Amino acid sequence: MKILILDDAKAASARAAGLIAAQVAARPASVLGLATGGTMEAVYARLIALYRAGEVSFAGVSSFNLDEYVGLAGDHPCSYRHYMRELLFDHIDMAPGAGHLPAGEAPDPEGEALRYEEAIVAAGDIDLQLLGLGLNGHIGFNEPTSSLASITRLKTLTRETREANARFFPAGETPPRLAITMGIGTIMRARQVLLVATGAAKSEAVRQVIEGPVSARWPGSVLQMHRNATLVLDRDAASGL
Ligand code: GLP
Repeated sequence: MKILILDDAKAASARAAGLIAAQVAARPASVLGLATGGTMEAVYARLIALYRAGEVSFAGVSSFNLDEYVGLAGDHPCSYRHYMRELLFDHIDMAPGAGHLPAGEAPDPEGEALRYEEAIVAAGDIDLQLLGLGLNGHIGFNEPTSSLASITRLKTLTRETREANARFFPAGETPPRLAITMGIGTIMRARQVLLVATGAAKSEAVRQVIEGPVSARWPGSVLQMHRNATLVLDRDAASGL
């Protein structure tokens, strides 16, 4: 693993966006794996700025997001599809329909998970997978005890994750209990992985992922086994190392 420690979240986001832009410059038809969550907001803002400055074009890019809540239609304001439209897709030149997410409202979520995995394989797998890190070490929605060889499937979210993500839902509404998520095996097939973690709240998860044993207890620790994984941290997230 390559570990980059930047001064603050702004610098870490800018570095991550720069690495994504470099991947797209090297391969304009890149297949990107995208992530959601608070950490990615600044990364996408920076990518949009690079696009507006003429430094990167996404015209040939396609993407697959890590996960989606089960039961939320794509136009639900708390769905990840809505997040991606608002924070990235609507502001760049990616072709319409090139940004894929699992369909949270699919009547057969298990079948949808399998279809999504097959679509990733058919696209030739992911060139660069962007990842955030859950407080409990999850990547995508692969909660602790997830099989390290898992593919896209349904996962039950832990109470800790639902509480952490409740801030994105209106008061009184709670995040769904189930999500469709790429598996850890799916993520590990990506040719390059870029994990971004900022803020002191992530320091224990970061420490476990980098210095702990490879274990399903802290799913991100599997990245120790990846051939081309880069972790972009700010000083606060790195403070437990
Ligand atoms: C959610 C997402 C993860 C993300 C995590 C961290 O649970 N499913 O993919 O990594 O949040 O989010 P945040 O950046 O808001 O801490």
